Order: sequence, then C-alpha cells, then structure tokens
Amino acid sequence: MSEMRLPSALHAAPGSGAELLSELGLVLYCGAGIIFIVVVALALHATFAKPSPAGTRAWIVGGGIVFPLLTLFLLLNYTLAVGSAVAALESGTALQLLLDCFGIDAQKRIPPPSPGTMRVHVIGKQWWWEVRYEIVRGDTSTAVLANELHLPVGEPVELLLTTTDVIHSFWVPSLAGKVDMIPGRTNRLILRANTPGLYRGQCAEYCGGQHALMALYVKSQPRREFETWLQRQARSVTRPDDAFLLAGYEAFFKGTCPDCHTVRGTPATGKSGPDLTHVGSRYSLAAGTLRNHVGTMAGWIAGAQDIKPGNAMPDSEIYTGRELRALAAWLGSLE
Ligand code: CUA
Repeated sequence: MSEMRLPSALHAAPGSGAELLSELGLVLYCGAGIIFIVVVALALHATFAKPSPAGTRAWIVGGGIVFPLLTLFLLLNYTLAVGSAVAALESGTALQLLLDCFGIDAQKRIPPPSPGTMRVHVIGKQWWWEVRYEIVRGDTSTAVLANELHLPVGEPVELLLTTTDVIHSFWVPSLAGKVDMIPGRTNRLILRANTPGLYRGQCAEYCGGQHALMALYVKSQPRREFETWLQRQARSVTRPDDAFLLAGYEAFFKGTCPDCHTVRGTPATGKSGPDLTHVGSRYSLAAGTLRNHVGTMAGWIAGAQDIKPGNAMPDSEIYTGRELRALAAWLGSLE
C-alpha cells in the first residue's frame, strides 16, 4: 500500500474537512492570544498608570459587556458554521461562513447527495468497522468489507454512520472531524481526500475493553484504480484448485468460522463477524491491530483472545499446524 499519512488533526489533508477544522483552531488560538495580550496590557495599565476617572463607565459597558457578548456571539456562530461545513464539506468561502452566522440552520446546509456521489455505510461494532459500499442505490450487499475504506481521489464520498451495539465515533484525524455512531441513528459525513495516500482512523468514543484496538484505514486512490478495486471487492469466491489452498478452504468449514463469517460464493454466510470474501486484500487484521499477512493471519486465528482479549472471535484450537497454515494461506489468497 501507499505511503501512510501521519494520523493527526494537525496534519490535515488539503481540501478535507480536517483542514476546515484546523483553520478554525488557528482562528481560535490567535483570537485567544490577542485577547490575552490586550487584557494583560489593560491590567498593567490599571496597575501602573495614573488614575483618571474619565470614561470609566464606557470601559465597563464597552469592555465588560459589549465586547465579550459580540465576540462570543460571533465565535459561537463561526464554530457552528464550520461544524456544519465540515459535515457537508461544502463551505469554503469566508462569505458563506459569515452569512451562516446569521441564522441559517446547519442541517439545512447539508445537501442531498448528488446522483454521482458514492455512498458507503459504515457500521461500528465491538471492536471493528463493517463497511458496505452501495454500488446500486439501496443495495449494500455487493461489496462488503471491514476496517478499510477506499475513496477515489478528490471526490466526495458520503458515509452513513451507525452502530449495532454501543456508541462509537468515526474519526480519521487528517481527513475530518469526529462523528459519533449512535444506536438507532444514522449520521452523515462527507469524506474527501485530494491526494492519494493511506490515512489511519481510530474509534474516538470509549466503547469497551478493546476500544483502543478499533482502528481503520482509508486509502484514497485514482478513480480508475478505485473502480478496479471496487469491482474486485464485489466478486465472489470460487473453490480453490490448488491442493494446499483447498486444504485451507476445507479447514475453514471444519471449524466454526462459517457461523460468524461470510465468504460470498461459498456456503459460509455468518453475519456477526467481518465478511472475509476479500480479506486477503486488506491492509490490517482485527481493526488495525495487526498488519495483514499469512503469519499474522495464522496467529490471529489461533490466538485471537491473546491478541485482543474479549473480542468476539474465539481461539481456534482444533487445527493441526498444516491446517492452520493452509487456512491462513487460503484466506490470504482471497484478494
Ligand atoms: Cu468503538 Cu471506541
């Protein structure tokens, strides 16, 4: 995979929602700095200058009431406007933000997605992310993956965020602000990455013991590469011809794997765990816990509870060494 970007809100990707947020931060820090300096100057003046009673009332009314009210009103509206712009990723101009300061409802600014906008459903689970691409509007069953999102460079992608258990929070610091995933609700976030690269995200709401090991990767890639990837993700799997891989395939069905995992094109249709149809193409295993290769795959199958205690995947102790290697090789071959 391509170069990994620093997962930091201070390294916002150009043109992303995170960039709007970092501008907001700059305005707030500078504003606070200026006000601090002015207040200290006034305090020094009050301490050391000769007392002069003239204009006392004006200072109290102006500096004590009008100035803070005006400043806080403008800042509050500015932050709300940036918040709504980040959610919709469509503001940009200072004029629009200023107009927003005067009573335009933030929700109304989120436009319906344009017909060409790619829509992806991301569902938070303890402790991983289910990702469903809506290739045909309304159908989310064709390309299902986990812990990884791919975006075409420079194009907005609409994420619909929800959860099936507890509250999680979707956060890719260098691309956008945090958006909570709340049971029974669907929140929207528009993600856009203007440069190709790999971005790391992290669950940002404490969601139980393995909250820290709930990461995901976002890869932005050129349109054509993205489409090839998506078409491949939508494909189902066939029984392998190779004897070793076939042994792995059979090991998968010998164990309890199919109870929880789906591999499209095979009899495995479990729903509670990640869809494994293209698990071999993924950057990480167990939601960013391990880099994905045949060794970590085998280790994860054999010792999931040692690696990520409390997660829903049991340790598989039924396999011989050869079966385990074959199983990891078969899963790794599912690209
Ligand atoms: Cu999911 Cu924290």
